This record gives sequence, structure tokens and C-alpha cells, in this order.
Amino acid sequence: MAAQTDIRPDMRMVDLDDDGVDRAFRADVLEGLGAPQKAIPARWFYDDEGSRLFEDITQLPEYYPTRAETEILRERGADFAPLIGPGRAVVEFGSGSSLKTPLLLDAIRPGAYVPLDIAGDFLRESSAALAAKFPGLPVHPVEADFTAKVTLPDELHHMAKLGFFPGSTIGNMVPRAAVDLLRTMRMTLGGDALLLIGVDLIKDIEVLTAAYDDAAGVTAAFNRNLLKRINRELGGDIPIAAFAHRARWNDTYARIEMHLEARAEIAFTVAGRSFSMRAGETIHTENSHKFDLRSANTLLLAGHWTPVERWTDSQDRFSLILARAGVPRKAP
Ligand code: AVI
Repeated sequence: MAAQTDIRPDMRMVDLDDDGVDRAFRADVLEGLGAPQKAIPARWFYDDEGSRLFEDITQLPEYYPTRAETEILRERGADFAPLIGPGRAVVEFGSGSSLKTPLLLDAIRPGAYVPLDIAGDFLRESSAALAAKFPGLPVHPVEADFTAKVTLPDELHHMAKLGFFPGSTIGNMVPRAAVDLLRTMRMTLGGDALLLIGVDLIKDIEVLTAAYDDAAGVTAAFNRNLLKRINRELGGDIPIAAFAHRARWNDTYARIEMHLEARAEIAFTVAGRSFSMRAGETIHTENSHKFDLRSANTLLLAGHWTPVERWTDSQDRFSLILARAGVPRKAP
């Protein structure tokens, strides 16, 4: 596994039909290709090849978020540890951040570590690696879809929790879904919980677009891999070479959007249904929202978390925010 690993935002149960086709994947793709602005949810990027390509993305010179967040965890432990205090059960939403998690666990004296992930194999592997690194720390992997409230193991009931959601994965959700997830996390973690969450910051548009359109073409391959997956798993005949990778800043929504743009007029079938695209028409494949201090705070408050403190890397690219469960009483 690569040294710096981020969370894969693929957090769902798998429901296969008699032919072994993932029903939710087929439904999302058919609905998305039939819409006026074609769009497929980003979570479908993460098949084995997509997960591998994402690991490669985190190592790219242009993709700064992983390095920036790692720097904060490495350099600012002495600042966040006293605010978190010892003895909390660290509940990580997703279990992939192989380098970031040890940095957090090293900095704070946790009472237990609880990775939550829908992908059982991945969860077991990363938990075993963590347990070997931290002998004496109770590790309780929980295989669960954390977009719904998760019941944590009984052994943890007496411990206060610290939720950990690094990587700015929250930015891959539209605001309403992000708020729902934050509220669900709050329910999973309980009333006296804290949350340490990574958010990528609004910055120079060239820096942002380069991070999602790298010179080596790894992000383009990651984006096009979605079409390969559709062809393989849903019996499609999409002409993959006919699509160009596009990464654009949308200033209204403060987000990078990834699209797959048809270079010419094309027609194809997926799961027995026919589709066509005009030259220049796109399939919208991902949103990556960026934040400033106020927009991040507003999102957290809407999600029933009160921001306590934030830390930013030395180049002001990325923030880690500590928040506590609950919001101040209703105004006025
Ligand atoms: C997982 N997530 C936070 C990444 C991001 O930066 O939005 C996914 C990604 N897509 C293209 N590059 C990275």
C-alpha cells in the first residue's frame, strides 16, 4: 500500500442481482446517463483499479491535499492533543488513511481505535496494521455503512469519542448530503463527542485545477476508469477514447467539477439501453467542494457540530478543524 493513503468515499452496502450486477450501480448509471446534464455519482470511481489510481493521485506533485493535511497532523499534535485530551475512542470514518491515523494516534493518547468501513477486507487489513503499530491499544474494526447511524461496540460505551474524517472527503458531497452525514456522525458518536475533520481550502484557481488535471494524466485515467467499469460491469460499449477529461472550477458552488467530455458526436449502449451525446456534451462525474473558514463553520453548525479550533498547513492550503458535538441554543 502507498505510504499516504486517503479515505475512499465508497460507503455503501452491495446488492447484486442474479447476474452479479450491482443494482445500485446500474440504477445510478442509467438514471444519470438519461438526465439532461448527464451525471454519475463519484462513489462509483472506486473499483480496485479506481482505488489504486486514487492512491497514485495522492502522490502526485500537483495533488497537495494529502501532503498538506499530513503536515498539520505531524506538526500540530502538541496544539490539538490538549484540546482532545487522553482516553477517547478514535472513530475513523473510513479506514484507509494509513499514514494519517498513526500521526493522530501518536499525538493524543487514545483509549481505543475504531475504524468504520463498508469494505471488510480493506478494514481488516488496515486494522491489523494499526494494531501491530500500537500494541496495547484496543482496536475494534466495525464493518458498516457510516452514512447511517452505527452502533459502536459495547466496550466503548463508557469512553468519550473523537470522530476522525480526514482527506476533505466531506467536499465530495453536495451541501445537503454533507449536512446529513455530519448529523449522522453526531448520532453515531454521542453527545460528548469531538470531531476532527479535514477540509480543503479555496485557493488560486490554477493550483486547484492542476490538482485535478495533472501533467502525468493520472486523474484523467481515474476519471475514464469509470467508463471502463461501466463497460465491464454493465455490458456497455462506450467508446472510451472519445472522451476527454475535464476539471473546471465552478465559482458559484466553490467546487472543482470533473467531467468526461465527448470529443465528437457518439452513440453507445449500457445495460441494453441506447444513449447518444453531442460533441462537447459532458458527463459530470465528481464535485470537490472547497471551503473558507466561514463556509466550513456554517457547514459544521448545520451538521450539529460547533467549531472549536482550526489548524492550517504552512502554505494555507488545507485545514483540520476540531468541533464539539451540539450547537449553541437556538437564536435569538
Ligand atoms: C477523495 N476526495 C477527497 C478526492 C478529492 O480531492 O476530491 C477525490 C479526487 N478526485 C480526483 N482527485 C482526487
